[in-house]
Amino acid sequence: MTFPRHFISLDALTAEQFRQLLSVATYLKARRAPSTVLDGKTLAMIFEKPSLRTRLSFEQAMIELGGNAIYIRGEEVGLGTREPVKDAARVLGRYVHAVMARVFKHACIAELAAHSPVPVINGLSDTTHPCQALADFLTIREHCGRIDGLTVVFIGDANNVCRSLAHACILAGSRLVLACPPAYAFTAADIAGFGGHWGRSVIQVHDPKTAVAGADVLATDVWTSMGQEAEKEQRLRDFQGFQINDGLLAATGGRAKVLHCLPAHRGEEITDAVMEGPNSLIFDQAENRLHAQKAVLRLLLAKDAADAAAVIAAAQR
Ligand code: CP
Ligand code: NVA
Repeated sequence: MTFPRHFISLDALTAEQFRQLLSVATYLKARRAPSTVLDGKTLAMIFEKPSLRTRLSFEQAMIELGGNAIYIRGEEVGLGTREPVKDAARVLGRYVHAVMARVFKHACIAELAAHSPVPVINGLSDTTHPCQALADFLTIREHCGRIDGLTVVFIGDANNVCRSLAHACILAGSRLVLACPPAYAFTAADIAGFGGHWGRSVIQVHDPKTAVAGADVLATDVWTSMGQEAEKEQRLRDFQGFQINDGLLAATGGRAKVLHCLPAHRGEEITDAVMEGPNSLIFDQAENRLHAQKAVLRLLLAKDAADAAAVIAAAQR
């Protein structure tokens, strides 16, 4: 099976491709010596929003694989403002071998991919964060020993991180339970996109205490995402009661592992005590961004289908 040319949203992958990515990530993590496999390859990284993890982990991933990365601020490129996205896509493809972009509008990264002669990776859009969810499941597999048959409870906003985590749960054969205030739920378009998984693999409730019963994993994210700063005060009020704290963790029998994509607003969506506590996988999760993205880069920038198949076979051996 040919690996997709771009990495834009997890719902474009098959369950088998998702598992292959996780296997390659684990394989590369276990062999973290400097490599020359991407020698001569350059990744352009365009950021319309700030970043610590995504920028550094992609740049380091390219270094560890023997390639290069070039960072450029979104304002300088002006995707769709300084010039049409389709023109920028074609120019980028004349210089570099892959493009990673963090954008506001998801349509922008979709258009970039549609016109790009080189692979495009979504480093977060307003609707999805596939690199994060891939790293989340790498972390889940390491600590739970499997990726299927699990209950992942996301406490908070049905945002980009939550949506990609739902896609990952579907691919993994696990269940995503979202506990959110009614105004911050999945949209009708999301529900249509989940298709037959809605109500079975993806469930939505409004009471966090009920939601966490049977949870293997508790996950959360900030209540106010980048670009929503004007709604901050309203969101602070609306999300009261949707914090991952010792009480909520205790309602899982104290057994659930805790994930947060970071950056965290300690004392809002999660407490210090839970972040620093024994159930927290949060810093392993942050590290796994590097390994998961090395797998994405390795497969998207494979020399040919045979090279991609060889690394997958080695990883699954
Ligand atoms: N989790 C995540 O994407 O972090 P950054 O915003 O720092 O890249
Ligand atoms: N939902 C957050 C994720 C940050 C990594 C945001 O979009 O700002």
